Amino acid sequence: MRYASITSRLADLGSGKWALHIRARQLKASGADIIELTIGEPDLPPDRALLDECQRAMNAGRYRYSNGRGEAAVVSAIAEKYRRRRADVTAKNVLCFPGTQTALFAVMLGLAEAGDGVLVGDPLYATYEGVIRAAGAHPVFVPLKPDLGFHMQREHLERSVTPECRVLLLNTPHNPTGAVLTAAEITAIGEVARRHDLWIVCDEVYEELVFSGTFASPFDDPDLAERTIVVSSISKSHAAPGFRSGWAVGPAEFTRRLLPVSETMLFGQQPFIADMTAYALTHEIDTARRMRETYGRRARRIVDGLSHIPAVAVLPPEAGMFALIDVAGTGLSGEAFAWALLEEERVAVMPGSSFGTQAKDFLRISLTVADETIEEACRRIAALAERRTTTRKRRA
Ligand SMILES: Cc1ncc(COP(=O)(O)O)c(C=O)c1O
Repeated sequence: MRYASITSRLADLGSGKWALHIRARQLKASGADIIELTIGEPDLPPDRALLDECQRAMNAGRYRYSNGRGEAAVVSAIAEKYRRRRADVTAKNVLCFPGTQTALFAVMLGLAEAGDGVLVGDPLYATYEGVIRAAGAHPVFVPLKPDLGFHMQREHLERSVTPECRVLLLNTPHNPTGAVLTAAEITAIGEVARRHDLWIVCDEVYEELVFSGTFASPFDDPDLAERTIVVSSISKSHAAPGFRSGWAVGPAEFTRRLLPVSETMLFGQQPFIADMTAYALTHEIDTARRMRETYGRRARRIVDGLSHIPAVAVLPPEAGMFALIDVAGTGLSGEAFAWALLEEERVAVMPGSSFGTQAKDFLRISLTVADETIEEACRRIAALAERRTTTRKRRA
């Protein structure tokens, strides 16, 4: 039978990147004691009040069909959240989606198609290439340099732009690097976007998990308002990824045009999830603060746990749920080190190469496990790094 080309375009973008994680899960299933630091899922539960609100809404019959934009209360709560950042935001700027991932998918369908280029930093979040290719477009990678903390630079963006480019897909705070773009960097990047008439799609799902530095966004710059769309969700901010509740906020003309796309895809969101999201956005909930403290502390544990190993360098994250460590000093690539770590030390981490070429010397370590587990993982990483460095020196 014949299949549409989207199935081939996405074929290699799925499980290949997760081969090590999949292997670790297999080993675990067969009884091996593996420390799993591969994926980032909040290890705190969502606030009890959110679960209560969800149940209250269900019991009150809030399970009927909704509409394409979203339930009035959640649309208004999202508009209010962004109005605190830019005064002109109204309900007309908001579209609800089941999570940032779906928002990204729909937004990309609305902005790019076959032949178009989408600029995106390398390293990048694992699903971005699929989102771009699903729309028929192709990624145009902007190198994010390790020695510049993986912050996107104006000149690197400028050099990467081709005449086909229509969209810049930004991610701040960034996964996997934890980089948080500064206001000055956003201004410089925005200038390039304006000059080349690019849309800016900004994935801000880690907005509330900034440990150091100040969050900044092109959305907050009135000069970039006509070309910027934010996508985000309550997955990270409220430790509620399974609820699948997110949104896109952009120019009214954009949301007007995207509404039929969203309606065609989804036919609306679940009202009880919408009520819970509205509650989350309009009440003081301290989950994000607790995660900031916890993940920031665990990142420091990694710095402390590995600082005595000369062959390994930790890049302290500015935000998010991950820390990157550079293992080039051991003589191994990130990929080779990660597989050896799994086989010899029973620790599963993501090789940086799963996220692009610029992070190939790095490992990405999830901060969503207990402090003691992180400390034990560091001991094992240190042991492998020392073993490999000694073997290398002996051979030299
Ligand atoms: C950068 C980034 N964007 C989007 C997502 C997906 O978020 P959501 O659960 O809102 O779909 C993730 C999840 O890890 C992420 O790291």
